Amino acid sequence: MQKQKSNIGLIMLFLSFLTLIACEKTTLKPSVSFKDGVQPIFTSKCISCHPSVTKPDLREGNSYKALTDGKFFNTANPTESKLYMKLMPINASHGNKIDASQLLTILSWIEKGANND
Ligand code: HEC
Repeated sequence: MQKQKSNIGLIMLFLSFLTLIACEKTTLKPSVSFKDGVQPIFTSKCISCHPSVTKPDLREGNSYKALTDGKFFNTANPTESKLYMKLMPINASHGNKIDASQLLTILSWIEKGANND
């Protein structure tokens, strides 16, 4: 009887661990789509210069094609994507253009396969 009780305790502990891991995954990697997660960042932070000053054209409707044609993302090595590297804090010209959570949104979207979703 005593033994059975402690087994149940272990199972409960294991289950709560699983729940914890599952929760952490969702907070660390939010599910982002291009339309709802990435494009709004471009629209608010980038289109004042892209394309009026320079390429790529980051306006809604044009951005996905411009980024694909210019090979700006690398789904095999997401952190080596040109788009991501350009926006990293260490980058002199663009490091201050977006905040960390927006950069994470873009990275998560590339990690998910950089789909036009
Ligand atoms: C104040 C104007 C300005 C804003 C705002 C701006 N950019 Fe730029 N961007 C430039 C200029 C000028 C260049 C070309 C020189 C360079 O590479 O820094 C450039 C270059 C780039 C490049 C490299 C293009 C290439 O062919 O290698 C990418 C990618 C880029 N920008 C993305 C963005 C994104 C994403 C945002 C919004 C978060 C953004 N930029 C906001 C002015 C801007």
